[in-house]
Amino acid sequence: MEFHVPKRKLIEVALPLEKINQQSAREKSIRHGHPSTMHLWWARRPLATARAVLFAQLVDDPSENAPEYRDEAERREERDVDAYVERRIISERERLFDLIERMVDWDNLGDEELFDQVRAEIMRSTDNNPPAILDPFAGGGTIPLEAQRLGLEAHASDLNPVAVLINKALIEIPPKFAGRDPVFPDAVGQRNSWPKASGLAEDVRRYGSWMRDEADKRIGHLYPKATLTDGSTATVIAWIWARTVTCPNPACGISMPLVRSWWLGKKKGKEAYVVPSVRDGKVAFTIGHDPSAAPIKDSDGTVGRAGATCISCGTGVSLEYVRLQSREIGLGAQLMAVVADGPSSRIYLPPTDEHIAAADLPMPQSLPQGALPEKALSFRVQAYGMVAWVDLFTNRQLAALTTFSDLVVEVREKVFRDAAVASRIEGERLERGGADVAAYADAVATYLGMSVSKFAARNNVMCGWESGMDRLRGSFQRQAIPMTWDYAEAMPLTGTGGSFSAVISSEAEVLDAFFHQGTEIGIATQQDAATRTYSNAVVSTDPPYYDNIGYSDLSDFFYVWLRRSLKDLYPDLLSTLLVPKAEELVANPHRHGGKDAAREFFEDGFEDVFRLARLGVQNDFPATVYYAFKQAETDSNGVASTGWETLLASMIQAGWMITATWPSRSEMASRMIASGTNALASSIVLALRPRPEDAPIIDRRTLLSDLRSSLPESLRVLQQGSIAPVDLAQAAIGPGMAIFSRHSKILEPNGQKMGVRDALRAINAILDEVLSEQEGDFDRETRWCVAWFESHGFEVSSFGEAETLANAKNASISGLARSGVLSTGGGKVKLFEPAELPEDYDPRADDHLSLWEVVLHMAKALDDKGLDAAGLILARAEGRGLDMTAAHELAYRLYAISEKRGLTKPGILFNALGSSWPEVRSAANSAESAQPVDVADQLDFDSLTEG
Ligand SMILES: C[S@@+](CC[C@H](N)C(=O)[O-])C[C@H]1O[C@@H](n2cnc3c(N)ncnc32)[C@H](O)[C@@H]1O
Repeated sequence: MEFHVPKRKLIEVALPLEKINQQSAREKSIRHGHPSTMHLWWARRPLATARAVLFAQLVDDPSENAPEYRDEAERREERDVDAYVERRIISERERLFDLIERMVDWDNLGDEELFDQVRAEIMRSTDNNPPAILDPFAGGGTIPLEAQRLGLEAHASDLNPVAVLINKALIEIPPKFAGRDPVFPDAVGQRNSWPKASGLAEDVRRYGSWMRDEADKRIGHLYPKATLTDGSTATVIAWIWARTVTCPNPACGISMPLVRSWWLGKKKGKEAYVVPSVRDGKVAFTIGHDPSAAPIKDSDGTVGRAGATCISCGTGVSLEYVRLQSREIGLGAQLMAVVADGPSSRIYLPPTDEHIAAADLPMPQSLPQGALPEKALSFRVQAYGMVAWVDLFTNRQLAALTTFSDLVVEVREKVFRDAAVASRIEGERLERGGADVAAYADAVATYLGMSVSKFAARNNVMCGWESGMDRLRGSFQRQAIPMTWDYAEAMPLTGTGGSFSAVISSEAEVLDAFFHQGTEIGIATQQDAATRTYSNAVVSTDPPYYDNIGYSDLSDFFYVWLRRSLKDLYPDLLSTLLVPKAEELVANPHRHGGKDAAREFFEDGFEDVFRLARLGVQNDFPATVYYAFKQAETDSNGVASTGWETLLASMIQAGWMITATWPSRSEMASRMIASGTNALASSIVLALRPRPEDAPIIDRRTLLSDLRSSLPESLRVLQQGSIAPVDLAQAAIGPGMAIFSRHSKILEPNGQKMGVRDALRAINAILDEVLSEQEGDFDRETRWCVAWFESHGFEVSSFGEAETLANAKNASISGLARSGVLSTGGGKVKLFEPAELPEDYDPRADDHLSLWEVVLHMAKALDDKGLDAAGLILARAEGRGLDMTAAHELAYRLYAISEKRGLTKPGILFNALGSSWPEVRSAANSAESAQPVDVADQLDFDSLTEG
């Protein structure tokens, strides 16, 4: 029984994936004004991907308009109605692709006309009544923010209060105060108007600056200036410390420094490093600049994975000893160097008594409470005696953090007083839905409280000094709490990297870049995805993935500071001492009593969430789910991963059909292929539809025949959309899975239920079949070359074998040799690689033209000279009557073979050619010599075989 699936959405048919992925990769290097810089969160999805996915999830695939195009064709009295309809569908898809390609470009985010167009397109496909979007695992807020940018009501929930606050800051607060003037005294007159969130941004900037100045008055004396050799003074940027432990050698017993690297600055001509010496049982440090005496890799530092070495007596010290000492008496710390801000570069100075004394202060009072988890994913510091969150800071850092946290409370009162000058309505607090004076004060304080939390990430003992860049390295480069031996303590009160001012300015930049006009609806709440309701919204979400990231444990680092400054503003959200953990959907073996139990907890919870979501679902739109891929789990074919299969099976089991699977990457495909054979995506976006309760049962044979009849068309559409060849196999799983999962059961001949693993195998096998069937469109020389390439790549092999194959394919080796695609000699045959082909190939002068030759030359030309050169070959070959759609298909086939044979270089070339086909084609259209040739001049492939 066939059943009707409501209007197919673009995401279920085609996507301009390559462009989306390119922009997602590019986004990684954007720092200023990127919403992710508002507060740290782990493993965020790229905004560009989320934007494109949401759009394609709501907008109809143009094939839904076929009846309309058919009427149109009849009105126009088109002779071939089907061909007209097909052309219209393709051109309409191209129009939508163009819109997506423009809207994913970071540079176009301010283009209001473009986004009006985008929103209008969504309106058209949703009867002017677009659904609300719900992300129940909202994390860093990427999906809800992008939903809101597309004009959709956005609902974000997360179990984690830190994530909820981030979402409030991104989608809930800005629309409330959009278009308002700043309230800081005299700020309003600085500009004529304060559109979007610029007024709020200005207040964050100004009150943030006030906090900094106040902090300077209270703790400025803790940060003495540096005295340079000429007697002048300079601001300090950072203090570099070494941890110390007592040398276990009784004859030595010095306080030995534990240092990973002595290097301070590696820039050429400005080299600087720490030079230790021991006198009277004490270690002293000076600064060296002579590159010839600098530390070398093998002897740099005193501590590594294998243990430490005493710089005085040379005793080797095990890390076990260091851990024991750390836990029993604690590690010491010794100042190694002071980094001052010189006129043109960093100046590295040896420690002085003044600087040592300035850092020597008692632990401040009223610190946040909270113990580190005894054990957690990627936490290393507990073994070294750090048991409370405050142990991750020096006393001076704690002094700065408590001062700034206190100032958040004070600044809220100040904002309140200033705002009351402009308006008399006090109104409700922000958390109670207010939007007046009290709520505004809460809003500004929220951003400033988040700034203090973000500031903590650059002011703790996990921060290091990057000698290659002469700058501080913030913590959380990875999702971990690692042990750092030598650490850098930033100067918090001036304008450099680790300072409060730097944090405030990046925070304000995010607000400045916001699109909010005040009409958007955004709601961020704390909810467990496994118990919340799912009605009245379409889901787009990125769930946690097994044990990839221990969000709740990690986020306690921030939570304790957020709670200290914002508890009164968010009494419910910040009520618990630490982030709630029990319901967190993470396979944490420490929490769930071992690896197996943790995996079971995660998989059961995952299925529960999808079962619950299935209950509240609307059938008009697919849901979208991001699946985080772990490269390590893939097998040698790059397809099977137990996690992937298990989660697909869970979703199907929970009552969903899978209608699309798009590989999404934030690395360039070519870079990934080049860096090894592993070109897998970093995540996969799935589209899901609820499976009807009465979905039919079929047998394996029917499934295979359904796959065989529908996959070729799906594949053709994917290729038309120029999905990168590297992504084809993964993207083709979607249409295959759609057929598998729309049945309640597939029965094997032995009566057993077919599993996902078998379905994936069957889909891959049929994909191979379909790709080989496309060879039917190739000329016989090309068919021979493909078959040879499949068995031998570009290797040399025997002439006899080549002849046998040529007989089977009705081709001739001598003809192939004359056409310039291979070399023969000494009883051997070898296909030419693109690099071995001659330059300046011109199909017009080729009397042995084949698709193979044209495609290889195009790949070479694209790589060597770019689009125009490849386009010229395309135009000229087409002028000779060659079927260039088949040429495009050949590029996919050659990529697939290269990948299977592990041929990295040609793989990159064929992938680039397949995915940039539309650009090559438009270059061909404008190629000057693309004149049509006489029909009489066109090629007859059969006449070529004689050679
Ligand atoms: C992969 S992250 C989402 C990242 C987000 N898409 C972004 O771009 O920043 C998954 C999120 O699920 C949250 N989470 C884990 N268990 C949860 C639960 N039971 N209910 C709700 N959220 C949960 C985590 O706190 C985390 O923020």
